[in-house]
Amino acid sequence: MITVNSSPTHNVNWKLADDLSVRVDIKRDDLLHPVISGNKWRKLKYLMEDARKKGSLELLSMGGNWSNHLHALAFAGNSMGFKTRAFVRAHPGQELTPTLLDCKEWGMALEFTDRKTYAELRNRIRWNAFSCEYPESYWLSEGGFSPLAIQGVEDIKSEVALDYDYIFVGCGSGATVCGLTRAFPQSRVVGVAAFSGAEYLRGDLSTLLGEQVNNWVIDTEHHCGGFAKSTPDLEQLIQSIQQENTFELDAVYNGKVFLALQHWLQQRKLLAGSKVLVIHTGGLQGRRKG
Ligand SMILES: Cc1ncc(COP(=O)(O)O)c(C=O)c1O
Repeated sequence: MITVNSSPTHNVNWKLADDLSVRVDIKRDDLLHPVISGNKWRKLKYLMEDARKKGSLELLSMGGNWSNHLHALAFAGNSMGFKTRAFVRAHPGQELTPTLLDCKEWGMALEFTDRKTYAELRNRIRWNAFSCEYPESYWLSEGGFSPLAIQGVEDIKSEVALDYDYIFVGCGSGATVCGLTRAFPQSRVVGVAAFSGAEYLRGDLSTLLGEQVNNWVIDTEHHCGGFAKSTPDLEQLIQSIQQENTFELDAVYNGKVFLALQHWLQQRKLLAGSKVLVIHTGGLQGRRKG
């Protein structure tokens, strides 16, 4: 059994926002669970329930060296009595990152794949995509992207009391943006892409959400050079936000969300009196050095 903590919402101390009379709050999903934190439990909970219902014994997925998704999946699978296995985009001979060491310790079998094979795995969508190779397995696509993951994120709506004009969140597969878009039809959801070349998400998510649903945007300007890349501006902003507040930020997702928000504020894209909610999606485990 996995029990999660509550995720409080509080104000962010940020002079820039105060000076512009924009209220910025943060919803602390990073506090939901020490390991399955942020959007991870929201995305995994119905998928794991479904795997159980289907009688699957092994959860199978894919990710990189520092994958928050694999890290959460390994822990959650282990706690709930599933075997876990992951295709990892890395060299077999490489030293394991702290993320993968944890995964291994929690019983996850790791299979290393080259970039080409990894890219092909993205074509596997259905839950039983690996039933030939791994009987009784349940496949979760990259980042857990699936209708059930989106539904899990959508549940957040009962936890947010105020009507926010904007909801800012980090974006990888886009599942979290989709869930938030459905949960908060009156707000504009801004998904800040953590990687370069994310423009394709606009088409993919529009197909999934329906063209008439337009309360969301993907900000593709703040990936800082690519996935897990950083810049001095990003590092400096993370430091200054952390100094004034009680939460921490990772540079891969949540730091970039604040960077995007900073620019939106500086460019006066947010009117005085606007209310903004940032969803802290966790990911702090990735800050450990290899
Ligand atoms: C910490 C963190 N924030 C945000 C995201 C983006 O979530 P999604 O893949 O649903 O877009 C991820 C990836 O799963 C993540 O690990």
